[in-house]
Amino acid sequence: MCGIVGYIGYREAQPIIVKGLKRLEYRGYDSAGIALFDGKEINVTKTKGKVSDLEEKILNGNNTSGTIGIGHTRWATHGIPNDVNSHPHYSNSGDLVIIHNGIIENYATIKQELENRGYVFQSDTDTEVLVNLIEDVQKNGNFKLGKAVQVALNQVIGAYAIAVFDLKKPNEIIAARLGSPLAIGVGEGEFFIASDASPFIEYTNNAIYLEDEEMAIIRLHKDTKIRNITNDRLVSPYVQELKLNLEEIEKGGYEHFMLKEIFEQPEAIKDTYRGRLNVSKGIIKMAGVEDHLETFLNAQKITIVACGTSWHAGLVAEYVFEKLARIPVEVEYASEFRYRNPVISNKDVVIAISQSGETADTLAAIKLAKENGAFVFGVCNVVGSSISRETHSGAYTHAGPEIGVASTKAFTTQITLLTLIALRLAKAKGTLSNSDYKRYLVELETIPSKVEEVLEADKLTKMIGEIYKDASNFLYLGRGFNFPVALEGALKLKEISYIHAEGYPAAEMKHGPIALIDENMPIVVIATKYGHYEKIVSNIQEIKSRKGKIIGIVTKGDTQVKSIADHIIEVPESSELLSPLLTTIPLQLLSYYIAILLNKNVDQPRNLAKSVTVE
Ligand code: M6R
Repeated sequence: MCGIVGYIGYREAQPIIVKGLKRLEYRGYDSAGIALFDGKEINVTKTKGKVSDLEEKILNGNNTSGTIGIGHTRWATHGIPNDVNSHPHYSNSGDLVIIHNGIIENYATIKQELENRGYVFQSDTDTEVLVNLIEDVQKNGNFKLGKAVQVALNQVIGAYAIAVFDLKKPNEIIAARLGSPLAIGVGEGEFFIASDASPFIEYTNNAIYLEDEEMAIIRLHKDTKIRNITNDRLVSPYVQELKLNLEEIEKGGYEHFMLKEIFEQPEAIKDTYRGRLNVSKGIIKMAGVEDHLETFLNAQKITIVACGTSWHAGLVAEYVFEKLARIPVEVEYASEFRYRNPVISNKDVVIAISQSGETADTLAAIKLAKENGAFVFGVCNVVGSSISRETHSGAYTHAGPEIGVASTKAFTTQITLLTLIALRLAKAKGTLSNSDYKRYLVELETIPSKVEEVLEADKLTKMIGEIYKDASNFLYLGRGFNFPVALEGALKLKEISYIHAEGYPAAEMKHGPIALIDENMPIVVIATKYGHYEKIVSNIQEIKSRKGKIIGIVTKGDTQVKSIADHIIEVPESSELLSPLLTTIPLQLLSYYIAILLNKNVDQPRNLAKSVTVE
């Protein structure tokens, strides 16, 4: 839930770390800090606020020279966002300094024990407890820093990605992970440490991803040593060559990442099916599915676990799998699934969906499913992420980096990938006629150009946003495949504009929400041609009679809804099954423009973070 960056090498560390922290702000942005070793002492600068506030403080403050340093951008867990609670944190002697992403669950007990031994704490954080525990272990055992970190980490319960630096041993940084991601960039005579590879991609393409329970001893001019924290075994470092490039993680001329990512969807969807869908041969091929085809086909049910937008993609997938492959599907919030006693066995397939591949609840759900004997398949975007490693098999969406906190292209690419899987299973099971199968393949390939067409509604959506930006509540209605799209539209609006919004199946309106409707209530209704159209038109009439303001998402050429609605946004004709890939787009744009018109920070909405690596 926080971003960490470290550098040890021959360049000035401060600009590298600050730039890296900016790229990691999607992970948290309520405070930021940096610690630099100038050859004599460690200088720490930290502040409540964003990395830009840290930059300002650096300009007006401390010495920030040095070729070794660590930095942090925070999303508060223990202790409110303020200067003192910001990382890095010192140990009592002032020799050790640490940055941490995660939560130390037993920090209160450890803190009490350390206080009994005379330790004093400045902050309310669990991290300051950890650095003092390391110091205590180091002193009592007369250990080197690496050993002290290892012994201390064996005493903590929780999740962490940490980097620790010792003034007495200035050529070394110790990094370790459990449950929070950590990558080490390996350059020529320099090393980088970061929550993902984006802070160091312009310096090196070589990276080592630490696994859970691993720690790295990173020394200048020496090979990095990796050790298992629990069993003390040395692990040979696996250096991966990264394909990521810098342009992909920058805004590319758009004002915000969110807008860039909305407009990237035609390409992102293509990237998802590229190499997997061969329309002329009528083939869908994904190694992760092919290798386990029998397991999928013999599954008594598929359970999808996910959170937020990924959960909504799972709901769309439920409709798709059941219609095409006739396999029963349940969709569960990972956070609920993990704490009940779900009926899951080795006859089940569990699909975990996650853009980041780091969501703590989804990871915990996966572990539980595995313990119960289920086969677990991951649908992730971030290559090498924890979920992609924790699952038995999986497939990447290949959407490219999604930086905006509000998920956009992750949603449409997840749906694309899950549709490919459902079609593959339907073909193998024979639950779909050949002609329907081929029709879907052909149609899937037309989706990117149709998405491009929907994106032309950009200006119209902005204009509609102008009219309704001051509304206090919104309703989103859809049926069937488009019910999850209504939920997703409402989530997008809530999270970036802070306007209350609810998504409902259109027919449920009469069971309660209809009481909310008056002339001040904008209602977005997804009313495309194939999908209970007549029923939705009746729902729209019911809204009209209560003076609600109707924004209809309709199929191009629609006349019936047009004659009743206050506004319509057209999408090209498509089958009902694939329509969510189109109807979602105007809802993303609408929430984007409303948030912009309200002057909200769309890429970094308040209280949120891109990947939720805590419970
Ligand atoms: O990385 P994940 O897909 O696992 O993230 C799940 C949710 O945290 C995420 O979708 C969240 O709801 C987004 N902010 C929605 O836009």
